[in-house]
Amino acid sequence: MLHVEDSEDDEGLLLLELRRAGYRPSSVRVETQAAFLAALEEGSWEIVISDHTLPQYSGMQALRDLRARGGDIPFILVSGTIGEALAVDAMKAGAQDYVLKGDLTRLPAAIERELREAALREEQAKMRERLMISERMASAGMLAAGVAHEINNPLAIAALNVDTSAEALARAAALANLMKSRGSGAAAALSQELAELVAPLEDAREALKRIRDIVHDVKLFSRQNEEMVGTVDLRRVADSSARMAWNEIRHRAKLVKRYEEIPLVQANESRLGQVVLNLLVNAAQAMPDSYPSRNEISIATKTAEDGSAVLEVADNGSGIPKENLERVFDAFFTTKPIGVGTGLGLAICRGIVLELGGRIELESEVGRGTSFRIILPPGRASEVVAKAAPVDPSHERARVLVVDDEVPLGRALERLLRVHHDVTVLTGGEDAIRRIGHGDPFDVILLDVMMPDVSGMRVYDEVRAVDPEQAERIVFLTGGAFAPSAREFLDRVSNPKLEKPVEMGNLLLLIDEVVTRGVRKRQNG
Ligand SMILES: Nc1ncnc2c1ncn2[C@@H]1O[C@H](COP(=O)(O)OP(=O)(O)OP(=O)(O)O)[C@@H](O)[C@H]1O
Ligand SMILES: [Mg+2]
Repeated sequence: MLHVEDSEDDEGLLLLELRRAGYRPSSVRVETQAAFLAALEEGSWEIVISDHTLPQYSGMQALRDLRARGGDIPFILVSGTIGEALAVDAMKAGAQDYVLKGDLTRLPAAIERELREAALREEQAKMRERLMISERMASAGMLAAGVAHEINNPLAIAALNVDTSAEALARAAALANLMKSRGSGAAAALSQELAELVAPLEDAREALKRIRDIVHDVKLFSRQNEEMVGTVDLRRVADSSARMAWNEIRHRAKLVKRYEEIPLVQANESRLGQVVLNLLVNAAQAMPDSYPSRNEISIATKTAEDGSAVLEVADNGSGIPKENLERVFDAFFTTKPIGVGTGLGLAICRGIVLELGGRIELESEVGRGTSFRIILPPGRASEVVAKAAPVDPSHERARVLVVDDEVPLGRALERLLRVHHDVTVLTGGEDAIRRIGHGDPFDVILLDVMMPDVSGMRVYDEVRAVDPEQAERIVFLTGGAFAPSAREFLDRVSNPKLEKPVEMGNLLLLIDEVVTRGVRKRQNG
């Protein structure tokens, strides 16, 4: 307490009153402006109590000096004779309260109230700040997600064109080799030139794959579209989370992955990403930061006996004492210092997992380590994206229709596919509806789900109405996550779905599969 008062006696009386009320004040008395300002500069004060009139200073001036410095220290004016006008002035100038010297019994209660309110104001200010930070983060996340989404299409175009180029290069090289074997010197030189192109293309392909992973991570952790649900491979989520947590992990432990086959699950990938990320950060924080080579964090996936998908994050860190095992999932339970942990991580994890109809199991032993297991029900059969199973490929040239509003993407698909098939590209749903049902039927139709003019869903319905058999040959190209209406639609139809950016191998296999299925159907009926 900083006490502005010229009379030692009055100071004594005031302190006595406070002690009587159970306070044990640590107080400093000043009588001049210089001393007051110096004291403010030096110490951190919880409250200022000031006499009204002093020989060389005044309570009102002290109040102005205090408020001029900013900050939020409560100020209580004490006076022998306080008139109503003066009291009003003091409150207007920002005093919290005033008390008469003749009636100091009111002071302790006034102080208590002011301290409580100051604490409350401070807490509110902190909350406002946290809210602002999280709003800022959310809008940064939105920007990042938007950028990532924009990159997806050009990335797919680059990747498909690199794939096409690599294939063309392989054919040209084979041709040059054939001519070389027939004794052409020029062909030998050409063959050498072509061989020079293999490594750069391969490097470019690798780089594109890395960009694709990064774009995926940004989309995942920008936490947009959390209401959207898609078909999720937990291994892919684990990879993204591991890349995100890598900075936390690398100095403390080595990371081991043991992935076994697991069923896909139906979930929001971004929320699952948060779950795995939090488990990995917890594991890293449970490690001593010495001997990173002895510390190990592992991520494992496997299929449970009942068909559930299981993901386990284990560490050989500090472990959790028995008495805390029940509490770690409680909100705000943390053993970490302020600023390191809020204790919300596992509470949020559990919420997300329960919402998906799954559960979290925990095993831990002090000094040996901890493992968290997430168990999620497998997605319904219709949700399991057609993983093009190697069927007996027909090797026939098929008539393939590509419908995608992104023009260069259509072009890239055409270049890639025309070596194997006869390709028609349309850039809108309207065109597609007009075209299908007129002229020769297509063997396979690659149909973008989201298009600005007429969506893939509408196209499907229209095609089904005029030619149900062709509707069965539609393969949906999706962005990976869906608005609820699209989700419901894709659940309903049994057509294969392929997530963008599509990979060449998957695409070619899937086309063969659809063609083969059509051929069998014709043979049988
Ligand atoms: N792998 C682990 N090893 C040892 N203790 C752990 C582990 N995971 C969690 N805990 C304990 O459980 C507590 C709660 O974890 P939780 O993730 O909910 O919050 P936090 O990590 O403390 O804070 P936040 O996640 O909000 O940053 C931790 O403070 C820690 O004591
Ligand atoms: Mg945590």
